[in-house]
Amino acid sequence: MPDNVLEVAGLHRAYGDVRAVDDVSFTLPAGGSLGIVGESGSGKTTTARIVVGLERADAGEVLVHGRDRTGRSRGRAQRLARAREVQMVFQDPYLSLDPRTSVEAVLRETLRLHFPGKDHAGRIRELLDQVGLGTRAADALPRQLSGGQRQRVAIARALAVEPAVLVLDEAVAALDVSVQAQILNLLADIREQTAIGYLFITHDLGVVRCVTDDVIVMRHGGIVEAGPTASVLEAPEHPYTRLLLESVPRPGWDPDRIAAARRALR
Ligand SMILES: Nc1ncnc2c1ncn2[C@@H]1O[C@H](COP(=O)(O)OP(=O)(O)OP(=O)(O)O)[C@@H](O)[C@H]1O
Ligand SMILES: [Mg+2]
Repeated sequence: MPDNVLEVAGLHRAYGDVRAVDDVSFTLPAGGSLGIVGESGSGKTTTARIVVGLERADAGEVLVHGRDRTGRSRGRAQRLARAREVQMVFQDPYLSLDPRTSVEAVLRETLRLHFPGKDHAGRIRELLDQVGLGTRAADALPRQLSGGQRQRVAIARALAVEPAVLVLDEAVAALDVSVQAQILNLLADIREQTAIGYLFITHDLGVVRCVTDDVIVMRHGGIVEAGPTASVLEAPEHPYTRLLLESVPRPGWDPDRIAAARRALR
């Protein structure tokens, strides 16, 4: 049996008549990368928010290392422990970074919360290094950073708690293509160095091809197709997947685009 870091089973969530998530199940092996694709409103973010614990499920299970995290957390310690297991990186880190807090202070706050009573200077340097931000960036405020640098800060903050799973919801969507490639390279490197599993939500099938091993295709809250990324993209079985592949949501969708940009950067 594979060593799954994350198991999601029979997840349901409705908002009134809208079945935002309708019987979603999947597994993520340790160190694996699973993509979630699907049109707008198909339930990707709701699924992610339930996995992270920002949203409750009407039914279903979310197991991390075999432990369920859908029930109410009992107290602060359990809440923090759950936060350490699964971290999320959003599309726009600007919204989740306090404009008055320097990069170093952001990381220090997170480290203090989760690992109190320790000196964090060394770990902060290590994290900055891991995400390719020099120590020069340590004193910068969010507005003094580029979009790519801000996303690196968000990734560093997520890594600070040593999560088992990183959920990335359109984490590179707002970035220029060349910066996207840099961040995707960084994420690939981090995955090689750690056993962190990625749940990678994106509209961009080029990104999916680049950074995921497996993919699930969502529509109207349900999963219409799932499998190894290469086979789903090359030989989609479901007409909806074919439609997704044929439709060109925006210029530069070319699935080989990011792969080529990544190769150029290596
Ligand atoms: N808090 C909420 N209250 C009411 N309806 C919601 C809420 N959150 C999501 N929905 C609805 O649930 C459905 C799924 O939304 P969700 O945000 O999960 O889709 P998505 O796949 O992430 O879309 P996008 O690609 O646009 O980000 C949509 O119909 C949405 O309107
Ligand atoms: Mg979404």
